[in-house]
Amino acid sequence: MKLEIDKIFDAFDRNGIFKNKSLLQSSYTPSEIPHREEQIKQIASILAPVLRGEKTSNLFLYGKTGTGKTLSVQFVQEELNKRVKKDAKFKLKIEYLNCKLKKISDTEYRILAELIKKMGAEIPPTGLPTQLVYNKFIETIDSEKQIVVLILDEIDQTVKKISGDFLYNLVRLNSELSKSKVCIVGISNNLTFLDEIDPRVRSSLSEEEVVFPPYNAIQLQDILNRRARMAFKEGIVQEGVVEKCAAFAAREHGDARRALDLLRVAGELAERDNSRKILLKHIDEANNKIERDKILDVIASEPKQFQLVLRAIIYLSENPKNEPVFTGDVYSVYRDLCLRNKLEVLTQRRVGDIIQEFDMLGIIHVKVISKGRGGRMREIKLVIPKEIIKKANELIENSLSYF
Ligand SMILES: Nc1ncnc2c1ncn2[C@@H]1O[C@H](COP(=O)(O)OP(=O)(O)OP(=O)(O)O)[C@@H](O)[C@H]1O
Ligand SMILES: [Mg+2]
Repeated sequence: MKLEIDKIFDAFDRNGIFKNKSLLQSSYTPSEIPHREEQIKQIASILAPVLRGEKTSNLFLYGKTGTGKTLSVQFVQEELNKRVKKDAKFKLKIEYLNCKLKKISDTEYRILAELIKKMGAEIPPTGLPTQLVYNKFIETIDSEKQIVVLILDEIDQTVKKISGDFLYNLVRLNSELSKSKVCIVGISNNLTFLDEIDPRVRSSLSEEEVVFPPYNAIQLQDILNRRARMAFKEGIVQEGVVEKCAAFAAREHGDARRALDLLRVAGELAERDNSRKILLKHIDEANNKIERDKILDVIASEPKQFQLVLRAIIYLSENPKNEPVFTGDVYSVYRDLCLRNKLEVLTQRRVGDIIQEFDMLGIIHVKVISKGRGGRMREIKLVIPKEIIKKANELIENSLSYF
């Protein structure tokens, strides 16, 4: 046994693919940001007046996932911070917060509490009435003469998890301040988000806008090549590999994160294969693996009610004759599962919404079938591969007690 393990470790050592894997991980911040010069310049010139102590317009950045929004805004934040003068007559604070806080029930409280903490004041992590937290927030900002730039990344999450009031209060902040001024930089990859909110909030949030278009395949190749050169040992990447990663990611709405993930996972798979090079087939395998992990991540992060609806769909889809599954049947199985697990039973309508969400996530396909005289039925088909269904089932069963 020991010998075999030694062999595995030795081979791993010899055939190492990576020189520095962390360069391909999401936590790494690259020192250069090619193909975003335009956006960075725009953000910088819109925000530049804060260096003179002036309030700027609110700014809204949007573009699909992986188009460099977070990276670019944090770069400008750093550059601004480098120029803050110690002896200025006003203070400049630039605070970045990602609003997508995981598994927090009171998101509004947490967002305000985080911002208060970042600005150097104290607040208990839970327990105060929200109005008091608001007051404390305003008091903290207005405690001295200062310009505060609040960068709120994934700002659409505040509406999804809280309510529109949060943003309404936020854009009206300046009217409650006497010494200080606040500028808001909102970021979102939900391109319809602005259309869905109160028009007054919309026009205030997006006084200025910067768009992040998807990267094209050539730009992605360039981004990948710069990283690959430092991340991999020399001569490890088969010809065409970078091009293929870029092409896959360009198809996935020009997502640089996806491109970098593909390359990293392909490297890991090559290493596991004991291959001396990253081959084209490793990119295909990496692509499948990432797709699978993505679906499972979604399922794992859904609330129990969602998981039970999915479990009901999976259960009904496992019939030997492969008969279609209808919403009505899903509801009765779902209800049964809820009762057995002592969970609240949602209405048929809510379950209908959940089913629609699964459709949007690409886990199922829903087809509406007319039944004459205005009657309609929805036919459901699972569209995830068999091995993922098995894993999804395990996931759901682990989080519940009775099946
Ligand atoms: N021009 C670029 N050069 C180098 N790396 C880049 C570039 N653009 C994006 N990246 C890398 O791609 C990944 C995604 O970028 P980023 O986090 O900025 O995307 P985003 O637009 O904020 O996406 P999301 O909407 O999902 O938050 C990061 O790892 C980032 O370092
Ligand atoms: Mg981001």
